[in-house]
Parts: sequence; structure tokens; C-alpha cells
Amino acid sequence: MNTRAVVIGVGHYLPERVVENAEFEKTLDTSDEWIRARSGIERRHFAAEGQTTSDLAINAANAALEDAGIKADDVDAIVLATSTADLTFPSAATMVQAGLGMTRGFAFDIQAVCAGFVFALTNANALILSGQAKRVLVIGAETFSRIMDWEDRGTCVLFGDGAGALVLEAQDGTGSNEDRGVLSTDLNSDGRHRDILYVDGGVSTHSTGYLRMQGKEVFRHAVEKLAATANAALDKIGMGTEQVDWIVPHQANIRIIKGTAKKMGLPMENVVVTVQDHGNTSAASIPLALSVGKQRGQIRQGDVIVTEAIGGGLAWGAVVLRW
Ligand code: ACO
Repeated sequence: MNTRAVVIGVGHYLPERVVENAEFEKTLDTSDEWIRARSGIERRHFAAEGQTTSDLAINAANAALEDAGIKADDVDAIVLATSTADLTFPSAATMVQAGLGMTRGFAFDIQAVCAGFVFALTNANALILSGQAKRVLVIGAETFSRIMDWEDRGTCVLFGDGAGALVLEAQDGTGSNEDRGVLSTDLNSDGRHRDILYVDGGVSTHSTGYLRMQGKEVFRHAVEKLAATANAALDKIGMGTEQVDWIVPHQANIRIIKGTAKKMGLPMENVVVTVQDHGNTSAASIPLALSVGKQRGQIRQGDVIVTEAIGGGLAWGAVVLRW
């Protein structure tokens, strides 16, 4: 008998304010056409003044708990992926724990930027497989609008705010690829590429800073590394791409998403795409896409899903799971 970390609930939350591409035309030398053509993004949500990452996360977590039909105190751990926590400390995860009214278990943040959710899911899976938790709330939540340089047209039009959450539960499996739950994971990082995507400030440098990016360089690494990590995760369990029902990629840029699918030999019919409506929500993008994909009727129980993401670090990885 093998233990598996099975998804029993999913949910998301997007802040009310929707900003269409055209709004940037008022303040920047840019256009709706340029943003759509280069990124696939049409609109994004921005958090309201005073609305924080943990606020978004609490809403997404409540939606996921409701979907799972369980209460916050039925959960043993919260693993929250974010690069935009409310405060330097405590962790956003413990703020979510309190916000959910959860008085037991443990909660912590994971910081792997846009790859954060894949790292969080892998860690949550490990907690379940090692018997340290039976149910884990895995959340991706971000307010990247807080680290945008609104004068840098090469970055500020690309990002958005949001949150998504999954509830994982330990269930008995057979050990075969027919099991529901997480089947394979693959994590990577290479700190030599720090300068192509980073925030030029932080606690230790006495500033908040703004996101800085060499877009073309990130793009070049992304397609190559995303296809490689997705294929590595599949190889570990002897699965071929023909067995994959859905790629649920990090939603950064439609051209990266298409390039990765093509490199993996999968048509766009097998890819869940939400980048047009959300922009790049960093660690929130995959759980948001999983939740929206389920709502749309794309993702169904039993489907094989490959999630893949890359972000600052560089850090990148993939998770294969059966829904
Ligand atoms: N509106 C109009 N023109 C713009 C804008 C804008 N918003 N932004 C940049 N430009 C200009 C540039 O200044 C440049 O002008 P120049 O030729 O006169 O210097 C021109 O458009 C072309 O710029 P490039 O950077 O060559 O455009 P590119 O086709 O590479 O697209 C983009 C830029 C969208 C950033 C692309 O490189 C990209 O998506 N890279 C991946 C980065 C990414 O997705 N990062 C997200 C974080 S990491 C992650 O999540 C994977």
C-alpha cells in the first residue's frame, strides 16, 4: 500500500478591480495590441488599497475548504507560496491560519517566486508521504502590483494579483500511475541567473524594491527549462506525454506556454490557459488555473495533469498528478 496526496478541494480568489490593457495607454507608451501580441494578456486584477496577500489567500483557502467539505481545523498544515507576504514576519501562512480560525497544526511560507506553487506542492506532498500531516492546505497568493515600477512598461503590464488553493489528503493508493494524487515531482534551481529576474530591494537592504527583468533572457530559459522539467517528472514514473490530459502551466506569457507545449509535443487543446484574464500572478497562477479549469469543466476527476513553472532564482519545477 502506498500513501498518496490526493486533491480533495480547490478554490481561488481574485480581487474585484479589473484593469484592462487599455488603461496602461493613459500613462505609458504602450498599447493593448502590443501587450496582447507579446504576452497574450488582456486584463489582470489588482488588490484594493489595504488588501493584502493573506486576505486574498484566506478567501481562496475558504473556497478550497468548502469545495473539500471540511473545516479549517480538519487541516494539519498550511504551506503558502508567496514572494509578497504582508509583513517581513510572521509568515503570511500563520496569518492565514488565524484568519481561517484554525487553532491547531502548523503553517509556513515558501518563497520560490513564480515556481513557488510547484515547490509548495512538492513540500506538502512530502509532509503527507512522511506521515507528518494527513491534510494540507497548499496556497499560492500574491500581490505583485506592490512591487511594480509603474514607469517600466517592460514589466508592469505583465503582472496581476490573486490567490488559489488546494486541499491535499493522505489516501491509500496502489503505487501505480493509476492512483489519484501526486505521482511525481521535479525541482531545480540555479542561482547564477539572479540578475535576469529579481527585486532590487529587501529587508536586508532597507527597501522594498521593484521587480526587474530581462524579458528576452527569461523567455529563452523558460521554454527550454519548462519542457525539460515536465519531461523529467514524467520520465521518473515512466509516463509518456500521450498519457497527459492537461498541462496546467505557470501563466506568464502565452508564447512561453505555446512554446513549452510544442516542445513537449502536446497540442494547445490539452493546455489550461488563463493568462489572458489574470496576467502573471506568480505563485498564484497554477492554483488559479487549476480552479478555473475545474470550473470550466476542463479538469475532471481521474485526469492526468502536469503543472510546470519557472521564476526568479532561477527556480523551476514540475508536478505530475492525477486529479
Ligand atoms: N509596450 C510597448 N513596447 C514595449 C513594452 C510595452 N509594454 N515593453 C517593452 N516594449 C518595447 C521594448 O522597449 C523594445 O523596444 P526597442 O526595440 O525599441 O528597445 C520592444 O518593445 C521589444 O522588446 P522585447 O523585450 O524585445 O520584446 P519581447 O518580444 O521579448 O517581449 C516580453 C517582451 C513580453 C517581456 C517577453 O520577453 C517575455 O514575455 N519574456 C518572458 C518574461 C516573463 O514572462 N516573465 C515573467 C516572470 S518570470 C516567469 O513568470 C516565467
